[in-house]
Amino acid sequence: MGAKPYESASTMASPVIAPSILAADFSRFGEEARRAEEAGGDWLHVDIMDGHFVPNISFGPGVTASLKKATKLPLDVHLMIERPDQYLDAFVKAGAFRLSVHVEAKHDVRETLKRIRDAGCRAGIAFNPATPCSAVEPYLRDVDLVLCMTVVPGFGGQKFMPEVLEKVRHLATHASRRKHFYHVEVDGGIDMQSAARSATAGADAYVAGTSLFRAKDMKREIAAMRKAVRSNI
Ligand code: DX5
Ligand code: ZN
Repeated sequence: MGAKPYESASTMASPVIAPSILAADFSRFGEEARRAEEAGGDWLHVDIMDGHFVPNISFGPGVTASLKKATKLPLDVHLMIERPDQYLDAFVKAGAFRLSVHVEAKHDVRETLKRIRDAGCRAGIAFNPATPCSAVEPYLRDVDLVLCMTVVPGFGGQKFMPEVLEKVRHLATHASRRKHFYHVEVDGGIDMQSAARSATAGADAYVAGTSLFRAKDMKREIAAMRKAVRSNI
């Protein structure tokens, strides 16, 4: 059975938990990726930072290709880089399942999204806490995911910004989502509490670095997060 016409968008997909490898032990990328898989993660979130778009440098296509070999989890690659158009081919080749690009970066956004899809990947549009929904709305038909930054991007371990929930709510109930489905993903400061609040607002994909990789028992943490999300949809 298809979705009922007025069913809330968040019930249209089961919640996705995406552990973020940025919070892993960088000396053991492969093992850490497998740990996220065995703990029940749905996607592996891969944060790419170039030191220009954000004031931090993480890693690039080489590490991404190694992660691809280490895990069966789809790679949810988040490009926090100034020129995603110049590097997207390298990340496609590295095995990205999805490539999310920032609307604030320096590129022809529509053209970049088209190139991602033409290369056989899913496309996502990401935007910062200070950027209004109107900046991403023109692209909603060109993506299968909208990534709402719930911290200022650049570093893991920051505090969730609840003021972003208004944008999550708006995008999750946007009329076009009923005709053309896209995930609404929250990223930054996600733990059980902020995931539950995001679920109430209509998010269906949850990126979590510190709260999962630094947990004593990642499996238990993911199960608890999933439960908290489900009971708040
Ligand atoms: C922040 C990154 C996030 C980061 C989240 O710039 O985009 O994906 O890994 O980390 P936590 O969950 O620690 O806030
Ligand atoms: Zn991210």
